[in-house]
Amino acid sequence: MNNLGSRPLHPSPEDDDFYRFVADIRRATSIDLSQYKETQMRRRLTTLRLKHGFGDFASYFAALKSNPKLMDEFLDRMTINVSEFWRNPNRWQVLLDKFLPEMIKTTPRLQVWSAACSTGEEPYTLAMILDRLGVLDSSAILATDIDEGVLAKAKAGVYPERSLRDVPANFVRDYFQRENGNFRVAEKLKRAVRYQKQNLLLDPFGERFDLIVCRNVMIYFTEEAKMTLYTKFAKALKPGGLLFVGSTEQIFSPRQYGLETADTFFYRRTV
Ligand SMILES: C[S@@+](CC[C@H](N)C(=O)[O-])C[C@H]1O[C@@H](n2cnc3c(N)ncnc32)[C@H](O)[C@@H]1O
Repeated sequence: MNNLGSRPLHPSPEDDDFYRFVADIRRATSIDLSQYKETQMRRRLTTLRLKHGFGDFASYFAALKSNPKLMDEFLDRMTINVSEFWRNPNRWQVLLDKFLPEMIKTTPRLQVWSAACSTGEEPYTLAMILDRLGVLDSSAILATDIDEGVLAKAKAGVYPERSLRDVPANFVRDYFQRENGNFRVAEKLKRAVRYQKQNLLLDPFGERFDLIVCRNVMIYFTEEAKMTLYTKFAKALKPGGLLFVGSTEQIFSPRQYGLETADTFFYRRTV
């Protein structure tokens, strides 16, 4: 897939218009679109600007600068925000049955990070599992995303029924309350998660995490950006700590980042 790091030798006027937009966005927001795969990003942003009737990216950017609503929409659509509780249930089951019980034996106060957490389904899934294992109160869950809009929804913690379709029935019973056709997540889960705005491509990472969950965002990034991020994730883990990735995001040659495969879509820091 083409990416913005490998631009055409002879750019067309449309290419120039788009690359100028990328530079303008970087200056205005610190978001570096050149680290995202170009084809998908450009298609998504072209659809968005045409929806508002802008003939080129220059006029779209001029409007973004003066219209905060348009800017919010741009930030919201830049990547897809879709999330679900218990996404790929059998992987969460492995965490619940195997990895977390092992970790708890030596580390009762777990430091967990849900990176690119979107609207909160992932950190709340983690919180439910930690509660089942009896260590929620002693654990710390950090949940971050670049988009303040999704973080506000995550903090509100109210979800349509379809987001819960993979949640085991006993967890629905114990951790959700019905509210006007939606489901409200239990206060004890909300209290356990600390939300913070963070751009993975720009902001510093924390350290000494026992578990980092980063799923379904790396697919948007260029190969170069991914390599940098895997190295940073490995460093952010404790030795022996785990990185849990999405089901299309297998890491090739994990050893180059100081990681080894612990199970399908789980990688362990080796050194
Ligand atoms: C498809 S969602 C993934 C949600 C969740 N992790 C899951 O797997 O269900 C992708 C999220 O990545 C976030 N994102 C995109 N670029 C980012 C960046 N540079 N830093 C942090 N988050 C980013 C988006 O705002 C979006 O909420």
